[in-house]
Amino acid sequence: MSTFFRCCVAFVVCILGSNPLFHLQAAVKDQHSFANPEHISSTRLKLDVSVDFEKSELRGFVEHQFKRHQPNANTLVLDSRALVIEKVLQQNATGQWSAATFQLGQPSGILGQSLSIKLAPDSEKVRVYYHTTADSSGLQWLSAAQTSEKKQPFLFSQSQAIHARSWIPLQDTPAVRVSYQARVRTPKQLLAVMSADNSKNTERDGDYLFEMPQPIPAYLIALAVGDLHFKAMSAQTGVYAEKTWLDKASNEFADTQHMMDVASRLYGQYPWGRYDLLILPASFPFGGMENPRLSFITPTVITGDKSLVSLIAHELAHSWSGNLITNSNWEDLWLNEGFTNFFENRLMAEVYGKGRADMEYSLSVADLQRALPDLSQADQALKLQLAGRDPDEAFSPVAYVKGQLFLSYLEQQFGRQRFDEFVSLYFKTFAFQSMDTQRFLAFLQTNLLEKYPGLVTAADVQRWVFQGGLPDTYPKRPSDAFVQVEQQLALFLKGSPNWQTSQWTVHQWLHLLDKLPQQLSAQQLITLDQQFAFSQSKNAEIFVAWNRLALPLNYEALQQPLQQFLLHVGRSKFVVPLYRALATNPHWAEFGKNVYQQARAGYHPLTQAQVDKIFQ
Ligand code: BES
Ligand code: ZN
Repeated sequence: MSTFFRCCVAFVVCILGSNPLFHLQAAVKDQHSFANPEHISSTRLKLDVSVDFEKSELRGFVEHQFKRHQPNANTLVLDSRALVIEKVLQQNATGQWSAATFQLGQPSGILGQSLSIKLAPDSEKVRVYYHTTADSSGLQWLSAAQTSEKKQPFLFSQSQAIHARSWIPLQDTPAVRVSYQARVRTPKQLLAVMSADNSKNTERDGDYLFEMPQPIPAYLIALAVGDLHFKAMSAQTGVYAEKTWLDKASNEFADTQHMMDVASRLYGQYPWGRYDLLILPASFPFGGMENPRLSFITPTVITGDKSLVSLIAHELAHSWSGNLITNSNWEDLWLNEGFTNFFENRLMAEVYGKGRADMEYSLSVADLQRALPDLSQADQALKLQLAGRDPDEAFSPVAYVKGQLFLSYLEQQFGRQRFDEFVSLYFKTFAFQSMDTQRFLAFLQTNLLEKYPGLVTAADVQRWVFQGGLPDTYPKRPSDAFVQVEQQLALFLKGSPNWQTSQWTVHQWLHLLDKLPQQLSAQQLITLDQQFAFSQSKNAEIFVAWNRLALPLNYEALQQPLQQFLLHVGRSKFVVPLYRALATNPHWAEFGKNVYQQARAGYHPLTQAQVDKIFQ
């Protein structure tokens, strides 16, 4: 055991041992990885790949530098899935390369296969030559027709949660961090970008170099290649996008620098240098992905009115919660997403005012309350049990919103100033480390519960973290703007409508759609749609909320716009619930199936897998 490692263990023993809340627990093994970082951990990667759009294939090598934590350790175990491993070399202390024996383990579903590499005692680096396959779920290859400009193909990666292993053989656990260097060769007319330094003035020549000096977990390694252009928004921020989106995106997200400045003031300096945004094609399966230095963003939040920019606040906040301190296991996902939702809302309040942040907070609570009844008690706890399950299942409003509400509850009990100090200390103390729920709770115990006794009990904490349900002590944040919506809705339902909506924001419309009763008459639906044109809304959140209401009521006028939406947008948060609503309703099932047949090829493999399950 290295001295460093021994110190860490001693430290954990010490903080946990003195803590009445928790029993000492050995560092938990990540069940979603075959890797053996406790023996040998990868510390730095060198990726050298060519992007072949003809074959839809990435080909090249990844070189690992590593550290032995046991002097006699002689096997480096990596994760791999859907990769063809061609050969493995190792380099000794004098710089000589020789073949290394390697073995692929039994394939095991979503986990893929272990790749065990035998090391000579003096071996210092290994190089794995490989190429990806059609089943490499971490990559989406788009034809020119699937892009905005329709002239050039596009490739992007999505590694979270455990898809990095499907395009790079590596230790795919968030408990391991690596810095990296990369060389990416592409067709000449295309630009490659990565979650690393992206030189703005790089020559567009199909040969691109990247350096990521800070250590990051595998799920944050990211690559995109396409007909991309750059536009600066400020000295430190900018947008990469296809031409169609460049100006629209830089206007929509013009407040990014301001958000960064506020975030740095609240919780400590932004630790990654630049912060750029990459606008993906509409098939991007998420709203956003917090790849360091370069968040990946869906075009569905570019609405022209900045109404959905909380997504940028969210991905930016991950620069601290998630990227700087990382959940060490997918069962602790709430430490990433709950903290980030909390942080996001603080930023929104600072940049756009408390009124807007209160509305967004309430909409999130509504989201959580809608989701809870469909989740088991165990899945309603913040700390999850994911043995034998796909970690992508951890992503429910529980990790996001219940996590946020737990932190908001602590903030309410201890007061904003003390809680902010606590959060800043947390980010400072554990920067560039992994964190699990036990360690977090130990830190909480020492730095808040015991420091300011009598405000929150250990039993309160246990209930929030380990039990189902939403404690009704969560802070309520009433919104005047929402009260107005409710008053006008009440009049409408009484049959004497007096709508005064000219000043309404997108959030108020979303609240109205949340609050409309599920048993509207056909006439009421038609009246609402004639007046407010929900079926034609270009705001994806509004359109989807309207569908949630009107689909079960078999509102015919949805058919045409819904088909267009599903053919165009691949964001799984939208399309998966829509297909579920269609498939489970005899009136729509056939239509849903037909649309999916046409749309499927344009969706990301992750979205395809989710929708396939619905129709199988
Ligand atoms: N880290 C997530 C994206 C993600 C989710 C990756 C699930 C893999 C599996 C990202 O930060 C995120 O939370 N995105 C949300 C938006 C956010 C505003 C709630 C999304 O994509 O909708
Ligand atoms: Zn997130």
